[in-house]
Amino acid sequence: MATLVVCASDVLENGGLGRRFALESGDEAFVVRHRGVARAYLNHCPHRGLELDWQEGRFFDDKGEVLVCSVHGARYDPAGGGCLGGPCRNQGLTALTCWEQEGMVVVEEGGDER
Ligand code: FES
Repeated sequence: MATLVVCASDVLENGGLGRRFALESGDEAFVVRHRGVARAYLNHCPHRGLELDWQEGRFFDDKGEVLVCSVHGARYDPAGGGCLGGPCRNQGLTALTCWEQEGMVVVEEGGDER
């Protein structure tokens, strides 16, 4: 399974801006940090299939605790991507396998945490 180095670990702050990146497949994805853990998801809201961040990198709510789609306000659990309310109606984000290694955030191409 191929891996992709997304960014340096220290650019991701807890509940702060995320980093967008593209997978080799062409799918858009993002990484964020939540409670110390780097998490990666496809940047694809299951409500209408749109990207979540209207302002690039803004995936979290104001408290930095919940991922929010800026289009219609669907709310997602940063620790797994499950729908927490709004128009996602129990459909969650697609999680990518993500870890940190030697100060870098790494994602498995085609990986899925479930
Ligand atoms: S496209 Fe994300 S809430 Fe509608």
